[in-house]
Amino acid sequence: MTFLDIETVEKLEDIMMETLSTSRYRHCFAVAETAATLAYHWGVDEHTAFDAGLLHDMMHYLPDDQMLAKAQEYHLPIDAGARANPMLLHGPLAAAILEQDYGCDNQQMLDAIRYHTVANPQMDEVAKIIYLSDMIEPGRPNWPGLAKLRALSMMDLDMAMVYAMESTIDYLAQRGQQPHPDTEKILAVFRDKVAQKTKWRQHMSESRSAQEILEQCRKLAEEKKARDISVIPLEGKTLISDYFLIVTAGSNRQAQSISDAIELAMKEAGTPPLRIEGYSEARWILLDLGVVVVHIFQDEERAYYDLERLWAGPEGAKQPEKDASEQ
Ligand SMILES: [Fe+2]
Ligand SMILES: [Fe+2]
Repeated sequence: MTFLDIETVEKLEDIMMETLSTSRYRHCFAVAETAATLAYHWGVDEHTAFDAGLLHDMMHYLPDDQMLAKAQEYHLPIDAGARANPMLLHGPLAAAILEQDYGCDNQQMLDAIRYHTVANPQMDEVAKIIYLSDMIEPGRPNWPGLAKLRALSMMDLDMAMVYAMESTIDYLAQRGQQPHPDTEKILAVFRDKVAQKTKWRQHMSESRSAQEILEQCRKLAEEKKARDISVIPLEGKTLISDYFLIVTAGSNRQAQSISDAIELAMKEAGTPPLRIEGYSEARWILLDLGVVVVHIFQDEERAYYDLERLWAGPEGAKQPEKDASEQ
């Protein structure tokens, strides 16, 4: 796979500085940095995520007529949705230009750029990260669902995609706009992925009750001197789990030691964690035990993500702030 060399990326940055508005140019860098952070968290290539984030909106400046003309020049398929809203072509067009004019054959990066607006059922982790980073980068204006989408992006990329797409559909509906005709179909694919995980979770809970697992984890965290232990019952609020157990650790070592103790105990009990995220960085370790998700935070991350505020109350309204021209 060919990455773009430094000179090419710098050249593209210069072109973007000339063609994009200042706010769009800044947005591109913010998406790149957010994407690299998420890539590190999810164990995928940070370099690919950064470059995809940086270049995802490089053709955003073109007006509708030129967008359509360029798309034809690069032999892109133009469906009814794109004909009605040519701005939807800015991702596919950027990918085509990078591939054909700049020799980029990093398909993972090209797909992430291609799918960042309308999404696609085939999206891999990097593509999901770019789609989400586009919505959650720090410069985006606040909207009621933003904090939850940021937290979900760290917990479960498919669930975050469902939340992001539903929020976008709601937002467009409120403005009397239609999403791309494929959006509902793509959303159904992501909902299905989440449902599969939920089935697995239900299967797991047949061997041990959620309360039993919760109490064991709480005890282990207490033994490892975790602070501020709290439990959020989630029934009916999210498909992620039945309970969140949230604890604070004072150091990387303490966070990892709590995680190790729980992982070992769960393996011994025959219900090993489905996944453990964030272990090496140890700022927010997430152990997914199916019916219980254990979050081991350090102070700063616990305050920033504030899961109690996001999930302890009723489900809030969702209204993402997206460009009117984009989905
Ligand atoms: Fe975009
Ligand atoms: Fe963007």
